[in-house]
Amino acid sequence: MHFLLILLITATLALATPDNHNGHCGTYASNIEGLTQAGYKTGWILDGKNWTALPEVFAQDLYYDSSELGDYGGVSHGIDEARKALQAASQDTRTERMVTNLWLKEMVGPGKARVLTQITLSHWHDKALEDIKKTYRIYYMCDDIWIREGGEWKMWKSYVHNMGPGVEAPYFGKGNPLLQQY
Ligand SMILES: *[C@@H]1O[C@H](CO)[C@@H](O)[C@H](O)[C@H]1NC(C)=O
Repeated sequence: MHFLLILLITATLALATPDNHNGHCGTYASNIEGLTQAGYKTGWILDGKNWTALPEVFAQDLYYDSSELGDYGGVSHGIDEARKALQAASQDTRTERMVTNLWLKEMVGPGKARVLTQITLSHWHDKALEDIKKTYRIYYMCDDIWIREGGEWKMWKSYVHNMGPGVEAPYFGKGNPLLQQY
């Protein structure tokens, strides 16, 4: 009887797919690689304002909460709300998200990972470069849960924390020759 039980447990363990930091992930060699690429890709898609590509990096039932950033943040329930908020915030602007220090903190379940990421967002409003409500730089970190759908990692829950004392006003300087391109 005991022998059978041990056999059963051993068989179950052998069948379970290993899903750790280095576990294989779709087109990627590991979960770390897949998650890192997904984090970077999210930055490219958002800065490129490619709203049709959002489902490649956001889960349909995404919950995004950056309310800690006050007027510079908000809460979105679902991918459509997130898309609308992003679209509204990006009118007449260009942005650059520096996505760094991406740390796969924990595999919290099969195909489910807790990831910490630091982001520096530069947000420039072409017609309001001196208005700190519209042109600013902000430092925040994301404490996120990503889920794997097919071979791709999608952001599922995102909690954003302010890292700096406030937003910074980028200084462009008088006589800045690049400014003439605007
Ligand atoms: C937007 O994303 C879609 C889907 O990935 C892609 O086919 C398209 O080329 C992208 N558009 C731009 C302007 O990058």
